[in-house]
Amino acid sequence: MFWLGEPRAVASRTFVAHVLIAFATAAALPGCERLDSAPVADDSDVGVLHVSGDVAEVLRGLDLPTNSATDSTNRFFANADAAHFGQYLFFEESFSASGTTSCATCHQPSRMFTDGRPVAQAEGTGTRNTPSILNAAHFPWLNWDGSADTLWMQAMRPFEAAHELDSTRTTIAKLIGTREDLRLGYESVFGALPDSGVFNRLPDRAMPGMAAWDEMSEAQRELVDGVFVNICKAIASYERILVSRDAPFDRFARAVSTGGLADWASAGNPGFGKTELEGFRLFATEMDCIACHAGPYFSDFAFHSVRVPPRGGGAPFDAARFEGLKALISSPMNAAGPHSDDRQSSRARRIEFLQNPSSNWGRFRTPSLRNVDLTPPYMHAGQFDTLDAVLHHYSTFDGALPPDHHDAQERLLRPLDLSDEEKAAILAFLRSLSAPPLAPELLEKPASAIRGGKAKTGL
Ligand code: HEC
Ligand code: HEC
Repeated sequence: MFWLGEPRAVASRTFVAHVLIAFATAAALPGCERLDSAPVADDSDVGVLHVSGDVAEVLRGLDLPTNSATDSTNRFFANADAAHFGQYLFFEESFSASGTTSCATCHQPSRMFTDGRPVAQAEGTGTRNTPSILNAAHFPWLNWDGSADTLWMQAMRPFEAAHELDSTRTTIAKLIGTREDLRLGYESVFGALPDSGVFNRLPDRAMPGMAAWDEMSEAQRELVDGVFVNICKAIASYERILVSRDAPFDRFARAVSTGGLADWASAGNPGFGKTELEGFRLFATEMDCIACHAGPYFSDFAFHSVRVPPRGGGAPFDAARFEGLKALISSPMNAAGPHSDDRQSSRARRIEFLQNPSSNWGRFRTPSLRNVDLTPPYMHAGQFDTLDAVLHHYSTFDGALPPDHHDAQERLLRPLDLSDEEKAAILAFLRSLSAPPLAPELLEKPASAIRGGKAKTGL
């Protein structure tokens, strides 16, 4: 136990506090599957598994992923036509500068929507690791630095980032307004567009910050922004259904919570046994990983430093949350801005209450641990190739950045000195968070941009 700097033996005293953190996180997230929260069970034996009362209590407090994320700032979020068109756009390569990059270039369905690289690379090379987008619809803040507060706002950045699609909003609007499949797909969700001639008159590349953008008329800028925001809302609607469920751990947790352990045991305990359970016990109690990796997605969605040095060494340069929060607050595209469909929502109003102390410098959002075994390399810049290396880091803090002096909790992060058995158990538990693949029809470009429409591929 290192979180509060106490010896391992007294870890259980702080345990209840962590369960409460897990509860609080879950309560803040819309659309979680509430499991039975009956009083703490006595220790129980299930086949060969012994589930101690304290572990059973954490399991009961834990919500599991669902498909019911909500976002009232995007009125197309739960619209099936928008999700279908969004899926088409997610795989569309023609928006990018080279004509060969789509969102799926980096968020590859076969790799749980990651790319296997330390840092992202497409039209250029970035500085951060590509996170999965599975379950992101449930995340209160997006990106390693929390620089977006909705999925639709998040989607704007990769389109216009030089190392990602290197496109511009005007390029995108022009294609939507003039290419038949894109135009029909767009109109099937958002209604009629102006004549294609209006789009043909737009410059090929223009976005805020470019002279060509300032030279456009106000009406042109409004048209382009409106189309750009809508396609990002459609993509968000597709991302909403990308939820990974039913990992071996989930089946076990559900069985403990609902009293269905006998059935679960007779089904042969697929993917979850004694070692995984011991790993979960260490994770949730003695080692206190759950202090940050809490709730249904194993993240508190707060910003921390676990002292990982930059990739390739040298002085830390990524300001992370400190710059991310500034960018979020100043953006006209946040949940409180003019393109939001619900500017009074709690999602829109929460940024009013955020402080940005200098201690936010270099803090990254706790990553979700769902499917973590399938998404190497790890950390914000892919510093570690394997989960073994991650555990070695937490175990020794060899080569780590100096402790953070701004915050009492972070300052007390101490080497865990894990034994080989403990590492193996935690690894087995982490592997039990890997879910079966999603339905194959969600993982590729649909034949038509219109839901239920005739086959119409890119021209
Ligand atoms: C060049 C590779 C690349 C491309 C192309 C790309 N992304 Fe990403 N994506 C990233 C990286 C890297 C991050 C993390 C960014 C950060 O923290 O600054 C990210 C973050 C995200 C997130 C946030 C996930 C989370 O856990 O918060 C979502 C959602 C997402 N991208 C969706 C998209 C969509 C939609 C597109 C297409 C419009 C796209 N991405 C294109 C690399 C890419
Ligand atoms: C103080 C909060 C905190 C605690 C405690 C903590 N983590 Fe983390 N964890 C983080 C943050 C923040 C990151 C990302 C850090 C970065 O990229 O610089 C992370 C990254 C990870 C990753 C890499 C995930 C990925 O996709 O890149 C794994 C795996 C992980 N932690 C497992 C654990 C385990 C196991 C424990 C307990 C032994 C633990 N963590 C304790 C906050 C924490």
